[in-house]
Amino acid sequence: MENKLELLSSKIEKAKKGGGEERIAKQHAKGKLTARERIHLLLDPGSFEELGMLVEHRSQDFGMEKLQFLGDGVVTGFGTIDGRLVYVFSQDFTVFGGSLSETHAEKICKIMDLAMDNKAPVIGLNDSGGARIQEGVSSLGGYADIFYRNTVASGLIPQISAIMGPCAGGAAYSPAITDFTIMVEQSSYMFVTGPNVVKTVTNEEITSEELGGALTHASKSGVTHLTAANDKECILRIKKLLSYIPQSCDHKVEDLPMELGDEILPDLAKIIPSSPNQPYDMKEIISAIVDKDSFFEIHEKFADNIVIGFSRIGGKSIGIVANQPFSLAGVLDVNSSRKAGRFVRFCDAFNIPLLVLVDVPGFLPGTDQEWNGIIVNGAKLLYAFSEATVPRVSVIVRKAYGGAYDVMNSKHIGADLNYAWPSAEIAVMGAKGASEIIFRKEIKRADDQQAMLKQKEEEYADKFAHPYKATARGFIDEVIDPSYTRRKLIRAFRMLENKKTIRHNKKHGNIPL
Ligand code: HXC
Repeated sequence: MENKLELLSSKIEKAKKGGGEERIAKQHAKGKLTARERIHLLLDPGSFEELGMLVEHRSQDFGMEKLQFLGDGVVTGFGTIDGRLVYVFSQDFTVFGGSLSETHAEKICKIMDLAMDNKAPVIGLNDSGGARIQEGVSSLGGYADIFYRNTVASGLIPQISAIMGPCAGGAAYSPAITDFTIMVEQSSYMFVTGPNVVKTVTNEEITSEELGGALTHASKSGVTHLTAANDKECILRIKKLLSYIPQSCDHKVEDLPMELGDEILPDLAKIIPSSPNQPYDMKEIISAIVDKDSFFEIHEKFADNIVIGFSRIGGKSIGIVANQPFSLAGVLDVNSSRKAGRFVRFCDAFNIPLLVLVDVPGFLPGTDQEWNGIIVNGAKLLYAFSEATVPRVSVIVRKAYGGAYDVMNSKHIGADLNYAWPSAEIAVMGAKGASEIIFRKEIKRADDQQAMLKQKEEEYADKFAHPYKATARGFIDEVIDPSYTRRKLIRAFRMLENKKTIRHNKKHGNIPL
């Protein structure tokens, strides 16, 4: 037995060395941690149980039969984060550049299957040169096996992808299907075709970083939800993100203990400027009404005319969607609708209540928006809210104009509670635009057209630029003093915590993708 144990230990030691000291040193020299170091940072100390440590690839071509690294370039298994079960795979760049072979893919699929059967999140730490070139189609098949599972797992268990090195070609489609992607700045990139192919096909000269680095995907494409300065920060951000989301669609996030005071915020109303056209930072309102320091923003640099993120209110985890008057006056456009729509669907799939803060002047006009499909993209957000059955509460803090009033979690599309501040303006359009249309003849006939327009604007504003018409019809449940907002919201989400909505039985809807 002793000899047998020795053999086992020597194999384990060998597996732990991955591609060897030299390649590990190279990895460190790039400022990157190894696959195992990342897992040890991510999981509770001593909780990691590795599976498939001694797996070997089956490739027989190009001399590969003589080149074996135990584990085959990916470390897989399960463990806990803050005591909660999670499944993890971490690609090992020191073994064939973390490239994906048939067996490497099988290891990932194995933990994904376990995660689905046992209803716990999967976290993928990606650092890979893509398909194992020596294996050809077996590797492509392996990718497809993963994509298929990503799709089956979608909405069942949370899936988080960290990009901590290269993630190119079709490999990028796995993170794209998962719920959240986080990229490490300067050391990671994602693209379907790299700079060389781009140069050949379009003659554009571009670096990997510019084409598909963390900042590009955080701000231009929206492919990544979060970024991190380095591997350590990336792991910390994954843990923080996980703290707001449940184990699966069958679970809820546990409430944090919370001792409540009177929760009245007398200064909240002062954030809204006296002129309705003056911008302000919606994030000031968010941080004032949620539990202290609990706001965790998602997609911060992408489509910043809408703010989305997780938070806690009275200890409960919630998702927030809020128009941001600081950017483009908070209009809805193609990107903000896509961004918020996907977030709403995530929250709905995983039983996370939604708080919607409204200050929206409408949809962004223009050929760019129309030709890029504002109709179909705006419809994504409308659809996502309409189908969501989680508790949904809105507060209209200032403008709620036109179709955007309907879209932003109005009562009509299934919101549970709709509050408005006295500063709310709920109407088809702003007073100026409305007056120019409906009083056009009177204005034209007037000796002083400007004075007449102003007078008509005032008349229209008196009639419509307030929350009371909507309140009289029951579209707003209550006009509230802003200082009571936090208290009202804590009580609202408590009241709604056992909400159950039964929908018609069907296979699935057809969201306007
Ligand atoms: C096999 C690979 C590999 C791969 C890297 N290696 N990529 N082995 N298959 N795809 C090996 C290298 O031979 C090298 O081995 C080690 O990993 C480290 O690679 P380096 O090139 O030295 O590292 P670096 O300079 O950091 O460059 C990293 C890289 C580059 C940019 C990722 O390796 C690269 O361009 N690789 C090829 C990428 C690619 O074309 N992949 C296929 C894409 S198609 P040694 O022994 O020297 O340490 C694809 C399709 C998926 O992925 C489709 C799914 C539907």
